[in-house]
Amino acid sequence: MKPKLSASIMCANFCSLEEDIRQLEEAGIDYLHFDIMDGHFVPNFTMGPDILRMVRRITSLPFDTHLMIENPDRYIPIFVEAGSNLIFVHIEACIHINRTIQLIKKSGAKAGVALNPSTPLCRLDYVLEDVSAVLLMTVNPGFAGQKLVSGAISKIENMKRMIEDRKVKVDIEVDGNVSFANAPLMAKAGADILVCGTSSIFKPGLGIKEGVKKLTLTLSRL
Ligand code: DX5
Ligand code: ZN
Repeated sequence: MKPKLSASIMCANFCSLEEDIRQLEEAGIDYLHFDIMDGHFVPNFTMGPDILRMVRRITSLPFDTHLMIENPDRYIPIFVEAGSNLIFVHIEACIHINRTIQLIKKSGAKAGVALNPSTPLCRLDYVLEDVSAVLLMTVNPGFAGQKLVSGAISKIENMKRMIEDRKVKVDIEVDGNVSFANAPLMAKAGADILVCGTSSIFKPGLGIKEGVKKLTLTLSRL
């Protein structure tokens, strides 16, 4: 099954964000992916809830919010109120992940758990049944434009196997260096949602519509 595409908004042109959102909608993107960074969990900053509030006024596309922040519990209600439909928290940033997952659901969004590249899948043993999706970082979190970490594709395959063995309905979202070359490998390995940034739909000089068309064509050949 062809994976859905989630556009990484941190890679958009913030000087013409409304235009980029319109182009993403017309190109048929499935989700908007908001990378939220606090300068602590990752050594970078991106955007806050006000950006989601503004974008929510101009589109009904589902928001896929990726909290790369410490102590995410404090901010989950704010990001749901700002328009998030699915919220990923990093399991590495949560002391009581079950409580955090419950908080996301209670706040009105679908719950997702994100894993850094080196975090083993066994960290999901006691939460897999409680989430809608798992986000696998295939680059070190914090910056666009990085290259795939080693073992990324086999981790996706192992995640798929774990979901099948446990007979749960959980999507695998893959985030990082989703390039025209890597996307088919990630899809074949079991990815259900691909986070697309500077490696594909926001590739400098290509144009959003061209990028989405090229990626969709590449995936259609699977
Ligand atoms: C990493 C970011 C990036 C971004 C995708 O924290 O999440 O993965 O969204 O951008 P590229 O395609 O440049 O990796
Ligand atoms: Zn992300």
